[in-house]
Amino acid sequence: MDFTTQALPAGGLAAVTADALLVVVVGTSSPPSLDKTLGALLGDALAQGDFEFKPNRSLYVHRPPGYIVARLALVCAPDASAKAFKAAVAGGLATLKALGVTKLAVARVGAEAMTDAHAEALAAAVGDAVYLYRHTKPSAPAAPRLAQVTLVGGRKESAALGRGLQRGAAITAGVELARECGNRPSNHATPSFLASEARRIGKQFGMKVEVFDRRQIEKIGMGSFLAVAQGSEEPLRFIVVRYDGAAKSKAPIVLVGKGITFDTGGISIKPAAEMDEMKFDMGGAASVLGTLRAVGELKPKVNLIGLIPACENMPSGRAVKPGDVVRSLSGRTIEILNTDAEGRLILCDALTYAERFKPAAVVDIATLTGACVVALGHHNSGLFSTDEGLATDLLAASRHALDPAWRMPLDDEYDEALKSHFADMANVGPRAGGAITAAMFLKRFAAKYPWAHLDVAGTAWKSGAAKGATGRPVGLLTHFVLSRG
Ligand code: BES
Ligand code: MN
Ligand code: ZN
Repeated sequence: MDFTTQALPAGGLAAVTADALLVVVVGTSSPPSLDKTLGALLGDALAQGDFEFKPNRSLYVHRPPGYIVARLALVCAPDASAKAFKAAVAGGLATLKALGVTKLAVARVGAEAMTDAHAEALAAAVGDAVYLYRHTKPSAPAAPRLAQVTLVGGRKESAALGRGLQRGAAITAGVELARECGNRPSNHATPSFLASEARRIGKQFGMKVEVFDRRQIEKIGMGSFLAVAQGSEEPLRFIVVRYDGAAKSKAPIVLVGKGITFDTGGISIKPAAEMDEMKFDMGGAASVLGTLRAVGELKPKVNLIGLIPACENMPSGRAVKPGDVVRSLSGRTIEILNTDAEGRLILCDALTYAERFKPAAVVDIATLTGACVVALGHHNSGLFSTDEGLATDLLAASRHALDPAWRMPLDDEYDEALKSHFADMANVGPRAGGAITAAMFLKRFAAKYPWAHLDVAGTAWKSGAAKGATGRPVGLLTHFVLSRG
């Protein structure tokens, strides 16, 4: 997708050339700034009841009189925010993308100048609208022809809009990569596939990539990660990607992504209903790859390391059993009371591995608990952090990226739940507060650096009619990394 900016022509919107023009009308009443054609169209549509100033209400007009474009869509955004602009653009695209539009122009009327945030929101909305999964579905409909999007703005805004579009395009490409990895079924998106994707990104953007196999992971001593993988015929991988954008002396940010390419639950097996969705259990890993891709393109002055423990969680004659005790890389032992609480078991060894980089911050991203979905639903990711500054930065990044997250607690009192009779700790506590006890387990392995955990079980994919990976939280993570540049 090609994103550009364009100053409003002297002849106004009527003089814009494109296959279609999408005009976002801001506010709850007709703005006085409309040209004659738009003013008359809108007035008539309001009188006919064909248009209302309600969120995302739209009006399609073919060959508007005096306009160069043949197709015009008007969409209402109730306020001037980037969030409302994004929703309005998404609404307008739903109409226009089916029409064989290759070149789209987008403008906004009824509000002050747009900012880089609006431009970024436009790129995100376009990316969301045109992505189509087809890798294992040759019968999928032809992809939308939309190839070029121009944001029409004032001359003064154009530098900011250009910056926003560039950031938005990079994030959109990262989101698309994460969605594609997530959507591919587990017999395609294996741990080795994630490793080959990491290598591909590394090659494209000049990053160093290391991939460890079972023998090397044994040598490192990741007993907890190995225990999860031992029930599967599919070989496990530990993936390390390094982006060096700043001086060696600058402490890196480390992102750790849960890469369970399929979660059956293991011997503590899950019910059959919706188990197919456990192919998305590598959403954290996919978001790390997507963020690396965005960062590779934007080249901020930071050092960034991506760590991905990747394996399947399967039942078999060799699988780990409830009550088994394993030795983590930290040296502490874990009693695996429930083999379905496997995410924390692969992450804890990656968190210990992260210590060797003396990081400025470590953020892990994981589709970790059903309890987080119960707590926050599908809108906010759960944010847990031991560091106030890091939590503040991540929440700010989440707001800027329109990729919401909500802070959750980590009081010491919750730690009680992880006591074990036969090991240093158990991998599960009682049902109550399940998202928090999972985070408390990880916290034990993240004491040596500022740390945060994002539970994206409710946000990394959608169920039902729109089933598919969302690519979240690539936006949040990319903004966070940029903020440290
Ligand atoms: N991958 C799941 C978490 C999950 C469940 C994500 C449902 C999205 C939807 C994770 O590995 C898991 O199975 N967690 C268990 C933990 C429990 C055994 C303490 C869960 O949430 O039930
Ligand atoms: Mn599980
Ligand atoms: Zn899982």
